[in-house]
Amino acid sequence: AIIDFSEIFPSVPFILKGIVTTLQFVVVSIIFGFLLGTLLALCKIGGVKPLRWFADAYTSIFRGTPLILQLIVIYNATPQVTGYKISAFVAGVLTFGLNSAAYVSEIIRGGINAVDKGQREASMALGIPKSAMMRQIILPQALKNILPSLMNEFITLTKESAIVAVIGTMDIMRRAQIVSADSYRYLEPLLVAGVIYYVMVMILTVLGRMLERRMSRSD
Ligand code: ARG
Repeated sequence: AIIDFSEIFPSVPFILKGIVTTLQFVVVSIIFGFLLGTLLALCKIGGVKPLRWFADAYTSIFRGTPLILQLIVIYNATPQVTGYKISAFVAGVLTFGLNSAAYVSEIIRGGINAVDKGQREASMALGIPKSAMMRQIILPQALKNILPSLMNEFITLTKESAIVAVIGTMDIMRRAQIVSADSYRYLEPLLVAGVIYYVMVMILTVLGRMLERRMSRSD
């Protein structure tokens, strides 16, 4: 038959096991990327010129080169430069965290800048201190721009995580490829992997919608 799942059916649990690896990978990368991205966003909006210059250059480089290139550079060049080999998982988390931070910093910077400047002017006219203005007036409004975009970033990261398969991390993608290589069937294992990714993305999408609806209640 053209499509025949019977042969790869026993291998489905093997592919499903990749969910744990992919989820661990994505969650750690998201946390790392979010923390570093927040730090970079502070550099961008703060008044210190060299920091802003650094954060802008950082973003430019990580957004301006392919993620897969960054991944392979970090995985293979780290032993060359430091003498220590790092695992595929660590190299992946490092790369995805560093890469995502570039995007997250732009999301946060953009979200803050998008708050109407009248809000800032009114706060200053009222003599509200800068830190209180940030925490109580600007940031709550900026959050409405930031959260949906952050959710998108998490979805992108989940899908892009499939490229860690190229350095051998036993994620969903890599496991599907292994089943293909063993069975000479290419469509079925990848269909299984595709369905798993799709379900993960749909769950994140629904969560994002719920979050957005919750926030628009205060409008
Ligand atoms: N395919 C893009 C690349 O290779 C994805 C970059 C990662 N995107 C992200 N939002 N973290 O550059």
